[in-house]
Amino acid sequence: MKLRVFNKVFFSGIIFISIMLMAGCGRAYAAVQNESAVNRMIIYTDKGTERINRNIYGHFSEHLGRCVYEGFWVGEDSAIPNTRGIRNDVVEALKKINIPVLRWPGGCFADEYHWKEGIGPRDKRPKMLNTHWGMVTETNAFGTHEFLDLCEQLGCDAYIAGNVGSGTVEEMQDWVEYMTFDGDTEMTALRRANGRDKPWKVKYFGVGNENWGCGGNMPPESYAELYNRFQTYVRSYSGNEIVKIACGPGGENYPWMRVVMERSHRNMNAISLHHYVRGSGTWGQNEKGSATQFDEAEWFALMKNTLTVYPLLKGNIEIMDRIDPDKRIGLYVDEYGTWWDAEPGTNPSFLYQQNTLRDAVSCGIFLNAFNEHCERVKMANIAQTNNVLQAMILTKGEKMILTPTYHVFEMFKVHYDATMLPVELQSSDYRFGNNSIKALSVSASKDDSGRIHISFCNLDPGKTAEVRCALEGAEPKRISGRVLTAKTMTAHNTFENPEVVKPANFSNFKLEGNILTTTLPTKSVVVLEIQ
Ligand code: AHR
Repeated sequence: MKLRVFNKVFFSGIIFISIMLMAGCGRAYAAVQNESAVNRMIIYTDKGTERINRNIYGHFSEHLGRCVYEGFWVGEDSAIPNTRGIRNDVVEALKKINIPVLRWPGGCFADEYHWKEGIGPRDKRPKMLNTHWGMVTETNAFGTHEFLDLCEQLGCDAYIAGNVGSGTVEEMQDWVEYMTFDGDTEMTALRRANGRDKPWKVKYFGVGNENWGCGGNMPPESYAELYNRFQTYVRSYSGNEIVKIACGPGGENYPWMRVVMERSHRNMNAISLHHYVRGSGTWGQNEKGSATQFDEAEWFALMKNTLTVYPLLKGNIEIMDRIDPDKRIGLYVDEYGTWWDAEPGTNPSFLYQQNTLRDAVSCGIFLNAFNEHCERVKMANIAQTNNVLQAMILTKGEKMILTPTYHVFEMFKVHYDATMLPVELQSSDYRFGNNSIKALSVSASKDDSGRIHISFCNLDPGKTAEVRCALEGAEPKRISGRVLTAKTMTAHNTFENPEVVKPANFSNFKLEGNILTTTLPTKSVVVLEIQ
């Protein structure tokens, strides 16, 4: 047994040295090889070629539970401070994380949404049944004008998901014309009659959502044919260059990715991917596990499941690379995040869940993975902004709290539009029972003013992680840092105690020449800035 461990350590050391030498980094490696650090890293600070698209830090809001209603929309007559019906506190909080893009109105809801029911005087809008999310009445009070007003208040791009499952080509064409055409037509006259003279900019348009499931239960061949037809009529008007997004797979449905790419790649600018994660439970109702009551086995299970994002991206990108070798088409992970049982006492169809330090570390892993694959991943939209799934914000009447996941987005915004830096990481293991995973997740970038940012997650709730990192090609002078952690794995913010989990300054690091040494706390997210 001991010999096997020795062999493993010895040979992984040999492999690491070989990789470093092959990569022409003898000098940097020599500087770290004699150290006893458990984790070793090299960041090639002058070898970055790809930009991290800020849309990787995008969001998603659906007509589901209390995401849109209560989360954003309280109505003009509400006692909750609002601007044209949209609550000010939520807008302010999202502006602080520079929300770059917001996807709406679904989700599954998108493929039963008929946009014409959501325009005109609110008291005349027809009511509809929200069949996916609790069979509740949808008043249509929040429609196209309200959503685009919200995007203007947030200063973000709009990403609209159109209805393929139960909609028509004409309906989709009319919607795009209504929103973006500047000329004189029946649709633009209607828009003007509803109070909006100038067209909006709508940059992103999705042609359907999960059409392999709630969006019509189609085989990929049928969807690809429908996609080609529907997208023909999604036009760029009046200088609004629209980005067309095809519906991609959920998880490992690689045949879907292959067929849709093969048959429709010429007609798309991007294709989506959805990936939800949980602990050791199943996807059944009340079988996913509690968001707040869990032990280390469940912590470990989520970390392990979150790391599946790496092979998943690889598998889908390999298919895309075969069909689109020039990488013209973006991969948009336009739904992802943790999915737990709804909070006890809430409507299970409303998907309201709490959000702990565990969700924050999982989010950090996702974002590091997207950064690392930014050559192909051009957008990602965490599900969902308020009160639903892995939310940024929870509201209760006039109260609002920020979740640990919100804080991860706030800490990671330093990566927006920066150049991704290649990283070599030899991570220690996080062992639990007979299983083990890598203890560290990391990504790094350099912004336009030359500042380097490294975002780390230490997945291990029991061991701190010492890291020795060579900043190859840099002459660093100053370093600062922030950390998100807490005493317990289950720590979370509540309306009574809203600041249990929040970022703090971090100074447990040392710079010697271009060698950075740091010790990351257990179960933490740390972002360092090096100048
Ligand atoms: O985000 C909740 C649901 O998850 C979305 O409506 C759907 O697209 C996905 O299955």
